[in-house]
Amino acid sequence: MDIARTPTTPDGNPEMADAAFEPAQPPVIHRKDYAPFPWLLPATHLEFALGVEHTRVVSTLQIERNPAAAASAHILLNGDGLTAVSVRVDGQETSDWEMEGDNLRLNLSGDAHEISITTEIEPSANTQLMGLYASNGMLCTQCEAEGFRRITFFPDRPDVLSTYTVKMTGPKADFPVLLSNGNKAAEGDNGDGTHWAEWHDPWPKPSYLFALVAGDLVANTDSFTTVSGREVDLAIYVRAQNDGGDLDRTGHAMRSLVKSMKWDEEVFGREYDLDVFNIVAVSDFNMGAMENKGLNVFNTKYVLADPETATDGDFDGVEGVIAHEYFHNWSGNRITCQDWFQLSLKEGFTVLRDQLFSQDMQGEAVKRIEDVRILRSVQFPEDSGPLAHPIRPDSFREISNFYTATVYNKGAEVIRMMRTMCGPEAFRKGTDLYFDRHDGEAATCEDFITAMEDGAGLDLTQFRLWYSQAGTPKVAVDLTHAGDTATLTLRQTVPATADQPGKKPMPIPLKIAMFDRVSGQHSGEQLIVLKTDEQSFNFEGFAEKPILSINRGFSAPVTIERDIADEDLVFLAARDDDPFARYEAMQDLVVGHLTAASGNGLDDSARGTGRLAIAQAFEAVLSDDMLDDSMRGELMMLPGLTFLMEQQLVADPSRIHEEREGLKAWLGARFEDTLVTLHQRVSAVPYDQEATSRGARKVKTQALVYLAAGNSERASQIAAAQYHAADNMTDRQGALMVLTGLGTAARTDTLIDFHRRYAGNELVVDKWFALQASSLHPNAIEHVKALAQHKDFTIRNPNRVRSLYMAFAGNPHAFHAVDGEGYRLIADLILELDPINPQTAARFVSPLGRWRRIEPGRADLMRAELERIKAAENLSRDTFEQVTRSLG
Ligand code: PHE
Ligand code: ZN
Repeated sequence: MDIARTPTTPDGNPEMADAAFEPAQPPVIHRKDYAPFPWLLPATHLEFALGVEHTRVVSTLQIERNPAAAASAHILLNGDGLTAVSVRVDGQETSDWEMEGDNLRLNLSGDAHEISITTEIEPSANTQLMGLYASNGMLCTQCEAEGFRRITFFPDRPDVLSTYTVKMTGPKADFPVLLSNGNKAAEGDNGDGTHWAEWHDPWPKPSYLFALVAGDLVANTDSFTTVSGREVDLAIYVRAQNDGGDLDRTGHAMRSLVKSMKWDEEVFGREYDLDVFNIVAVSDFNMGAMENKGLNVFNTKYVLADPETATDGDFDGVEGVIAHEYFHNWSGNRITCQDWFQLSLKEGFTVLRDQLFSQDMQGEAVKRIEDVRILRSVQFPEDSGPLAHPIRPDSFREISNFYTATVYNKGAEVIRMMRTMCGPEAFRKGTDLYFDRHDGEAATCEDFITAMEDGAGLDLTQFRLWYSQAGTPKVAVDLTHAGDTATLTLRQTVPATADQPGKKPMPIPLKIAMFDRVSGQHSGEQLIVLKTDEQSFNFEGFAEKPILSINRGFSAPVTIERDIADEDLVFLAARDDDPFARYEAMQDLVVGHLTAASGNGLDDSARGTGRLAIAQAFEAVLSDDMLDDSMRGELMMLPGLTFLMEQQLVADPSRIHEEREGLKAWLGARFEDTLVTLHQRVSAVPYDQEATSRGARKVKTQALVYLAAGNSERASQIAAAQYHAADNMTDRQGALMVLTGLGTAARTDTLIDFHRRYAGNELVVDKWFALQASSLHPNAIEHVKALAQHKDFTIRNPNRVRSLYMAFAGNPHAFHAVDGEGYRLIADLILELDPINPQTAARFVSPLGRWRRIEPGRADLMRAELERIKAAENLSRDTFEQVTRSLG
C-alpha cells in the first residue's frame, strides 16, 4: 500500500506542510506494488453467535510462514470498524498487538501459529450492506471486495486462500435456516431455544467468497446430475414472510440454473464441484448478485420473476445473472484473482460466458445488439470521460469504484476479440488450458493471456495493449475504387485519457463484407486485423464501387467513422445479412441525421431529405415479412439520448432531445395507420415466453412509442386499452411507460391503478418509481421531487434509491434541466446517502462528471455541484475518489 501520497496530519511531516491543513486523503494503491502475503492460512474456523443486534465472532486461523514471501515478525490483519475483544496466540491470551489505523498488527516469533480473535459486530446498524448485515430480519453477508474485514480481523485479500469451517448458533425462531459455504457437516439443537449448524467448504477460497445467511426462509428445491453422474441438491431460498408470494416466483430462476449448469459442461467443459448449490434472494443488496462459493446471494430483482410481475427484460436479467454467478464457480472461484487490479480476469471472462450462454438460449442476433447497446450507452461514455480506466487498472483508492462497465463489459469484449481471431474451437483449447493450468490459484490477466497464446495458438504480444490502454479506439474508414479494385483504407486513433496522454495502435479485428451493387450480394465475410495507425486492403473484381459492411457482429469495441452515402445505409438497413450490421446501418442513418441537425443545425430542406431517407429504411423495417418481430423491434428503436450526446464533442442536451423527439413525432405521424395496424396484429399474439410472443410484445411497445409522439390522443387511448387488457407485465409496463410521458388524463388514472394493484410488491413498486423518473414528461423533475417524499420511498434500500434516482440521472432531458435543478437533486442525494451507503452513493457521481462534454452553461453548474460535494466533511473514500477524479 502506497501511503507516501497521503497528506499528513497537522503535526506531521514538515515536508508535507502544504497539505498539512487539508483533511487526510485516502491513499492510492498501485498495481506495481503487489507483494505476496508473508503468511499462509491452511485452515480457518469461524464461530458465530448470531443476533440481529449483536453478533459475536470467534475466528481461529491456522497460519504458517509463506516460503514464497519475505519473512515478517508480525501478521497484519485487516479490519474495518472492528475492535478486538480478545486476541490469543497458540491458546494464550496476548497483548502483544496494536492497531494500525483500522488494522490489527500482531507480533509473532515462530513459523506456525494458531491465532484466535473475538470481535463483536452489530448487523442491524450496518447500513453499508458490506460485511454482516440485517435485511427484513434475516442476516446475510456481502464480502466482495473488502467486506470480510467488517466481520473479523483477517488478511482480506484475494490471494490468501484458506479452507473454512463455519459454525453458527442462533435463536431457532428467528433463524430456522442457517447456511454457509460448502456442505453442511453437522447440526444440533441446544435445547434452550437456540440451535446450530456447522458447514464445511472443502475448496480453499479467499475471504471475499465467504458467505453466511440466517433467517426464516423457504426454498424451491431441485437437483442436477452432473456429467460424471454426481447428484447436486439445488435450492433457491426466499423469505417465508411474504404470503409465500416470493416462492412462487422462483421457477424461472431454477430453470435458468439448471440450464446454466448443463451449458457450462457442454460448452466450456466445466462441472460443478460440491454436493449442494444454494441461492438466497435478499431485498437489500448493493449490486446484482454475488458468487460466494456454493452459496450465491442475490438481489431479489435477479431471482423473482413471473409473467404477472416481471417483464421479458426482467426474465432475461434473471437468466443472465443466474448464469453469471454460477459460471463464476470456475471463472472466479476455482481460479480467483491475485489482486483486485485483476478483477477483469474473473468479471470480463464471466460476462463473456454469460453473454454466450444467453445468445444460445435466446438467439444470437438480438442478444448481441442488446449487449452492444449497453456497451455503447454506458461503457463508451465512461471511456471518454474523467473516470476512464483500462480493463486492468493501475491504481485506485477504493476498489468498489472499479466494478465498472469497463472492467465487466469491455473486459468481455476484449476476450471476445480473442475468440473472434482464433475461432470457437481454438478458443476452447485456450480456456481448457487456462482452467487446467491455474486451478486452485489466484491468477492474473497475464496468466489468462499466456494460456490463450499457448492453448489457442494466438500471438497476443501487441494485443496486450487492450489490457493497459483506456479509451475507445476510433477507426476512420475510407473506401475508394479504381478499375476493378476497391481499396479500403483504415486509420485508427486511440484517444488520450486521464493519466494516458500518448497511445499506441492496437490490433483491431474487423469482420467485413463487400456488397456488389448490381447483384446486391457479397461473396463472403472476411476478418481483417488492423494493427498499425494506417493500413490499406485491396479487393479485386468490382466493376463498380461496392457497399462496405464493416465491424459485422460488432467484432471490435471501437467507433467506426465511415463516410457513407445515406442511400448505401438504406441499402444495408434493408439488405445486410449480418443482423448486427443491419441494425448498425439503421442506427448510423439516424445518428448521422440527428447529430447534424442538432449540431450546426440543418435548414428545412436538408432536414427533410435526412428524414426521408430514414423513413425509407423505417418503412422497409415495418413491412419486411422475412424479419421476425424481435429483430423488427430492435431495428425500430431510435438511438438513445446518452449515446447521441456522446457523438458530439460538446453536446447541448435540449437541442438533441428536441431533434430526436421531432423525428419520432414525424415518423409517428407519417406511419400512424401502419403502426396502428402493426399494433393490432401483434396484440393478437397470445402470451408465452417463446421468441414469437416476446417479439410481438417488443414491437407492440415500440409502435406505441412512435404513436405517442405522432398522435398523443390516439396513442393514449390505445395505451390505456393495452394497459387494462394486459395479462403480463411487459405489456402493462410498456403501456404505462408511454402514458407516463404524456399529459393525458389516462396518465394519472393508470399510475394510481398500478400502484394500488401491486402494493407490497417491492420490485414492482420499484418500476412505478423508475417509470416516472425516466419519463418524457416535461415535469419529470417535479415528479421525482414529490416521489422522494412518497411513503414508499426509503433511502436505505439500494433498489429503491436506484429506481428513483438512477432512472432520473439516466433521463437526460430531465437531469439536464437548464437551471441545474437536476444536478442539485443528484448532489443532494449523494450527500445524504454517502454516510449511509457510500458504495451506492459514489455510483451517482459519474453523471455529474460528464461536464466537459456538455455545453458551457450547464457544465459550470455541474462542476459547481461536484465542488459542493467535495467540500463536505467526512466524505467516504468511495465518493471522494469519484469526485476528485471527476473534477481533475
Ligand atoms: N462479483 C459480483 C458479480 O460480478 C458483483 C459484486 C461485486 C457483488 C461487489 C457485490 C459486491 O457477480
Ligand atoms: Zn461477476
